[in-house]
Amino acid sequence: MTTNASAGKATPEALGRVTFLDGQGELPMLEISTAWSTAEIYLHGAHLTQFKKQHEPPLLFMSQCSRFTEGQPIRGGIPVIFPWFGAREGLAQHGFARVKAWELKEFAPAPDGSVSVRLRLPDYPEAAAYAAFTADYIVTVNQSLTLQLVITNQSPDAEFIFENCLHTYFDVGDVTAISIRGLKGVSYLDKVAGFVEKTETSDALRIASEVDRIYQNTTGTVEILDPRLGRKILVEKQGSASTVVWNPWIAKARQMPDFGDEEYERMICVESGNVASNSISLPPGGTSTLTVKLSSETLK
Ligand code: BG6
Repeated sequence: MTTNASAGKATPEALGRVTFLDGQGELPMLEISTAWSTAEIYLHGAHLTQFKKQHEPPLLFMSQCSRFTEGQPIRGGIPVIFPWFGAREGLAQHGFARVKAWELKEFAPAPDGSVSVRLRLPDYPEAAAYAAFTADYIVTVNQSLTLQLVITNQSPDAEFIFENCLHTYFDVGDVTAISIRGLKGVSYLDKVAGFVEKTETSDALRIASEVDRIYQNTTGTVEILDPRLGRKILVEKQGSASTVVWNPWIAKARQMPDFGDEEYERMICVESGNVASNSISLPPGGTSTLTVKLSSETLK
């Protein structure tokens, strides 16, 4: 099914469009096209697997070895990590939201040519361990990509404690050539060094080995400067106190069954959320909104 926006004064070429398709593994997928860009979202995990501006390489890295199977995470794009981040004894890493089918609640091509879709996490048995909550994910596609994860505590009397993270894999020309700016002076947990707490000293972080860091109490914009693709990526966020930077490098890449041995060279994860000491405690009736805007420009 395809739908075009018809309201408003947009010129025909500015109308946004949503097409419903069977994606890889026959998983249901939404293909969005606007005058500026295209995007793909799987209902499985509410997982964005693509955002591409016209005349630009894809913004998001996708592994050629990714699984597209119920119950398994997709490798690449933007996994939605919720309600926990990282390992939990006896439970799957990074929460259940990324391996469950979400429901499409609304899609709205707007008169200005943007397209927004709203997905909701259904009430799965795994949620019973928590206070009653709703989780909505609103994706807006235009010249940039805006993501909002809205969590509401629906319980009349219980606190809801959770972590969230939009685990974004960016496509880069050569990971050893990029610089990541915006984290200088921020303290981080270095997972590669056994969660030792350190402080970022670099104005322009370079990647030359495995990196797995949880930057804490940081709300600022992060920039990825990519001289090989001639592109600067901006990661702007609100309602997020943590930034995670991850590249598995050589040995870890080889251990991952759903990731190519050399693919670490073409990706960097810069993830925005609220994890570890920045986890969220929502009072009864409270709402938390994590907003991330991803955009790119030519590197001067
Ligand atoms: C990162 C974590 O966010 O995700 C890493 O900090 C982890 O420790 C990586 O290896 C990938 O996780 P997964 O579960 O998708 O393989």
